[in-house]
Amino acid sequence: MNTLNHFDTPQLELLHRGKVRDSYRAPSGERLIVVTDRLSAFDSVLETPVAHKGAVLNGLAAFWFDKTRHIIPNHVISLLDPNVTLAKEAEPIRVEMVVRNYLTGSMWRGYQQGQRTFSGVTVPDGLTKHQQFAEPIVTPTTKEESDREITPENLVAEGWVTAELYEQMRVKALELFNFASAWMAERGIILVDTKYEFGLLNGELILIDEIHTPDSSRFWSAEDYARNPETAEQMDKEYVRQWLIAHKQDGQYPRALTPEVSAEATRRYLDIYERITGAPLPTGTDTAADGDVRARLVNNLVQAGIMKDA
Ligand SMILES: Nc1ncnc2c1ncn2[C@@H]1O[C@H](COP(=O)(O)OP(=O)(O)O)[C@@H](O)[C@H]1O
Ligand SMILES: [Mg+2]
Repeated sequence: MNTLNHFDTPQLELLHRGKVRDSYRAPSGERLIVVTDRLSAFDSVLETPVAHKGAVLNGLAAFWFDKTRHIIPNHVISLLDPNVTLAKEAEPIRVEMVVRNYLTGSMWRGYQQGQRTFSGVTVPDGLTKHQQFAEPIVTPTTKEESDREITPENLVAEGWVTAELYEQMRVKALELFNFASAWMAERGIILVDTKYEFGLLNGELILIDEIHTPDSSRFWSAEDYARNPETAEQMDKEYVRQWLIAHKQDGQYPRALTPEVSAEATRRYLDIYERITGAPLPTGTDTAADGDVRARLVNNLVQAGIMKDA
């Protein structure tokens, strides 16, 4: 199966190489976000890319950006390829607006150690693992070398954002979260938690980065949760994580997946895409170029006038 692990081109200026996405400057000055098939687990990127993962993530973000336009404008200009979004360059606000509806992950670990206040939000005693909160909570972090839990008051005091802007971001983040939770609930998926990033464009608050993807959110199957809340696992990545744990050697996780494990991961990403959007990810292989993701991508960028024939 053809995959996109890296997209390197001398023709475009690289802005940022993330764990999964590579961002470039388009000749027009706009931002080109290439979502690769890289998968990161336990804080490192695996050597084996997962076929269609990039298109699933890019496609889901596009789906949600479109569906939530009535709540807030966003950075999307167009999808130039299943793996590529052309976006407006915004002045990013260096805050991650984390919204949580269930006690899990790092918050559960802190809770077990007695922590009750998270980014200024105090939760009651006696909660159990994966318990739903009375209502979704916003627990912002700063965007730095390592993200830091911080109260809204300190975000303002330290100059990350103004109080007025923070309030707008809080209201929008909750509106987005509630909207997506309801949509997913009808499709048997629990939106456990997620994070939003905002930016300013000509003084206006817009949504940037990605939204409601498996890399920025946790999804649980509602069926699994109903069976036993405490054992509910992330629908996308947990399978790979469990395999890595089972195949740990000399204290090291494998750096690559077997073809079978990678294919099963693909199946899970495609399933999530179809459940959320209601249609299968178009994975056409009817032309030669479609089989080669990189060739298709370059072809699409040439068509869009962003690259010259390579
Ligand atoms: N429209 C935009 N304008 C400006 N910056 C953006 C925009 N969209 C995303 N970004 C920024 O680009 C970066 C993307 O990084 P990402 O691909 O997520 O890699 P990482 O693994 O380092 O998080 C983030 O810092 C994000 O805030
Ligand atoms: Mg990121």
